[in-house]
Amino acid sequence: MSNNLQIPFNFEGYSALGTPLPPKGYKGFAGFHKYWGKKPIEVWRFLIEKLTFPHDIVLDPFLGSGLIAKECVDHNCRFIGFDVNPISIELTKLYLYPPNYIDLRNAIYRIEKRVKPLINSMYLLSDGNIVTHFLWNKDQITRVWTKSGRKKIELNLAKLELENLQSVEEYQPIRLRELCLFDNTRINSQKNLSLTKLFSPRALRAIDLIKGEIEQYSGNLKRALHLILSASVGQMSNMVFAVSKRGKTKGIETDKIEVGSWVVGYWCPAQHFEINAWNCYTNKASKLLKAVEEGRSLKSVRTSPSLNDFLNKEETVYLQQGDSEQLLKDIPTESIKVILTDPPHGDRIPYLELSEMWNSIIGLDSNYEDELVVSNAKERGKDIKTYNKKLSSIFHQCARVLKKEGFLGIMFNARTDCHWQCLSDLETTTGLVYIGCYPSVYSAGSVLQDNRKGGLKTDYVLLYGKQINEENRAKTVAAFSNLKGWTTRYPKESD
Ligand SMILES: C[S@@+](CC[C@H](N)C(=O)[O-])C[C@H]1O[C@@H](n2cnc3c(N)ncnc32)[C@H](O)[C@@H]1O
Repeated sequence: MSNNLQIPFNFEGYSALGTPLPPKGYKGFAGFHKYWGKKPIEVWRFLIEKLTFPHDIVLDPFLGSGLIAKECVDHNCRFIGFDVNPISIELTKLYLYPPNYIDLRNAIYRIEKRVKPLINSMYLLSDGNIVTHFLWNKDQITRVWTKSGRKKIELNLAKLELENLQSVEEYQPIRLRELCLFDNTRINSQKNLSLTKLFSPRALRAIDLIKGEIEQYSGNLKRALHLILSASVGQMSNMVFAVSKRGKTKGIETDKIEVGSWVVGYWCPAQHFEINAWNCYTNKASKLLKAVEEGRSLKSVRTSPSLNDFLNKEETVYLQQGDSEQLLKDIPTESIKVILTDPPHGDRIPYLELSEMWNSIIGLDSNYEDELVVSNAKERGKDIKTYNKKLSSIFHQCARVLKKEGFLGIMFNARTDCHWQCLSDLETTTGLVYIGCYPSVYSAGSVLQDNRKGGLKTDYVLLYGKQINEENRAKTVAAFSNLKGWTTRYPKESD
């Protein structure tokens, strides 16, 4: 092997850097919208910096929140991303092509002028106060708060027109697509779960009003306004639990109650908060505005409507919503330098089912058939066998499209040997060479972790090379072996 062969990876300064930077938590765009299993960008940044040169094509067939796409573009790489979840593609586009700051600010202001008075009229008390929070217990309002300046003030229930506040007439939304869910006890969903069960009539009417305003916009502005709405509906719902803190402060008995948040699944606790829906929207709108303002100097990204244009005209980004098993078939053999990806980890998170509330509010349809997942919803027929078969087929395609000496980095965790087996089989069936793995580092609470029995304590980044020669393999191992927890075997339960 010639000595002046360009090494396929970018290890300059590697020893000095040592390990990936510890995640700082989710800020700016990364903190604006929840996404299931979102990984800290530092984890991907490290791999992009180490494994790519400018203009290399990076592929992620399981985009998720889409943060990786922006990171690749920021590192001057070209990028192809797929995801079966429509909201994943919308979020990725938002990060890559944010709207103009002034346009967004004006649109939010215009929506505020038109709908805030209507929405607030539903929370208006006869004494002129506007309710910010109701605390419900079953079908009774038990506590009520308003705001004076920034101060939260609890109101005296005895003096309130409780009857009126409690008995708001059912509201049937006119601009929202109904939920399409399955019986799945693990995420508290039922086939007939409807928006009217998840939201109060006040919140549903507010969502409908905001949605009506958004319809008047188009392009990336409309996308941003929709995503502000989907980002805020969790806190508008009846799924916001209450955190009771009984105790003594300075010797006096206190009965503090704090506003929790919508976390995961479709559970409406008997005791829950109903938060003023306009406040929820405006809170997320401010977050996005701030992120757009901070990113104002970002370079513009050229995206391709077709894969052919992307490949032939050297465009920067190609995104597609759909099933990676099918979409990968269109990518030419040996055309991709690096694949970095984080597939669904067995039965950990049913992405489409959990994203259904967002997709229904925005009006996006999901194709449940195509999802790679193990779901407790029996009706879907998504068991471990079909999962393993599909994952293996997708990785075979990944191996085919990878260039010689290219890298495949997979983030993974699994509860059962058969899930890991699927990955270790890759070597025998695809010719990919396993180089090794290391544990991923998260900031506390940054990732929705599944600590159920058998899962490893953290996700692992597994590294494979395509037809990588012995010399380069040894170099890779030497470089990565600095990492804490690096091993050339597969992770074990005891890890
Ligand atoms: C672990 S998540 C990716 C999370 C991502 N790394 C992040 O940081 O946000 C896995 C993703 O795979 C997607 N997915 C599941 N089945 C798929 C399929 N057949 N084709 C493409 N994407 C799929 C899910 O919608 C989900 O967004």
